[in-house]
Amino acid sequence: MSFSPVVTLVCSDIERYRCRICSAIGDKNIGILTSIQVLITGGNSGVGFGLASQLLNRGTYHVLLGSRSTDKGRDAVKDLQARHESQSDAVELLQIDVTDDDSIDKAAVTVRNKHGKVDVV
Ligand SMILES: NC(=O)c1ccc[n+]([C@@H]2O[C@H](COP(=O)([O-])OP(=O)(O)OC[C@H]3O[C@@H](n4cnc5c(N)ncnc54)[C@H](OP(=O)(O)O)[C@@H]3O)[C@@H](O)[C@H]2O)c1
Repeated sequence: MSFSPVVTLVCSDIERYRCRICSAIGDKNIGILTSIQVLITGGNSGVGFGLASQLLNRGTYHVLLGSRSTDKGRDAVKDLQARHESQSDAVELLQIDVTDDDSIDKAAVTVRNKHGKVDVV
């Protein structure tokens, strides 16, 4: 189990409370605390893909990999999952074309229903 920077600080400062804090927060909520939700538009190649890979390397981010092409997006997600096997659940495809309002609205609904929030775009 990994901890968010906030939880890690609390746990290392007050080591003896570690288990109490974790059990009080509960695994489910720790999962929410540890996962910083990042949406990367244009994530299937170039700088966006590189950023996705670096964030997965850190282990505390959930990446919504935005791609206008579902085929390219799927390939990119597979590639990232192969590179970061332990983080394979931390990346998913979000179909989005940033020049198309309908596509943006649809992506927003998907994110809202599935995750409820985005921390960083
Ligand atoms: N590369 C650098 O060193 C560098 C440095 C500074 C700034 N930048 C800026 O960073 C941005 C990305 O650079 P890059 O080198 O990574 O470019 P890139 O390789 O051309 O990547 C662009 C990405 O954006 C996607 N994209 C394009 N139009 C889109 C749309 N309407 N909706 C959703 N996704 C779309 C592309 O998807 P498709 O595969 O479908 O085309 C691709 O995945 C650019 O604005 C660039 O000017 C780049």
